[in-house]
Amino acid sequence: MSFFEENCAEMDRYLENHASAEPDILKRLRRETFQKTTQPHMISGYQQGRLLTILSKIIQPENILEIGTFTGYATLCLAEGLSKDGKITTLDVNGELAYLPEKYFAESEFSHQIDFKLQDAKVFLKETAEVFDLVFIDADKENYVEYLNLIKPRLKSGSIILFDNVLWYGKVLDENPKQLSTQKIKELNDLVAQDEDFENLILPLRDGVNLIRKK
Ligand SMILES: C[S@@+](CC[C@H](N)C(=O)[O-])C[C@H]1O[C@@H](n2cnc3c(N)ncnc32)[C@H](O)[C@@H]1O
Repeated sequence: MSFFEENCAEMDRYLENHASAEPDILKRLRRETFQKTTQPHMISGYQQGRLLTILSKIIQPENILEIGTFTGYATLCLAEGLSKDGKITTLDVNGELAYLPEKYFAESEFSHQIDFKLQDAKVFLKETAEVFDLVFIDADKENYVEYLNLIKPRLKSGSIILFDNVLWYGKVLDENPKQLSTQKIKELNDLVAQDEDFENLILPLRDGVNLIRKK
């Protein structure tokens, strides 16, 4: 076991104590996600959330797309960097949980810039003609390759895509995985690395984030 694994909780506290504070609205959203949902670990959480905010503030996007809203934590992190007239479209298929993101989006200072749609991402992507400058994909892993193929024509030079969970708890090291989700994540990482139109880096943050830039 590595030093980092042995000291994980302590290191998490250290990291959190030496970075920008989490806005109060996100603290409350995180708490309520753990109280009210059955899979709270799906939330992006503090470290990944701050990464999304900083990247978004650097890019100052006009049009963000998020696939996989869940309770809206990452949506609010990404919204912090939007340009003055920018907007974020966030998609999810889980209507039962929609009351949670809706409540926090309404309270947020970015409420007028957030378009929350209960819609399957594949349907949305096949219909949209929009161009996105920042895309965060954190949903059904089985469809990651299809998402990449549908999103690529919707990017401009300099657009950024972030795919979450691309290390899949280490399962990407399995040479012949049986699980479809593992197969698709491996295929995605291979495709991105080989695609001359992209430059990318897999950040080993949490479960791995593939940070991709369209050339
Ligand atoms: C890991 S959670 C997203 C976490 C969220 N981005 C955050 O940072 O807190 C994955 C979400 O993807 C949604 N999802 C799954 N399949 C989807 C699809 N085909 N289209 C849109 N959303 C989908 C699930 O309902 C779930 O809420």
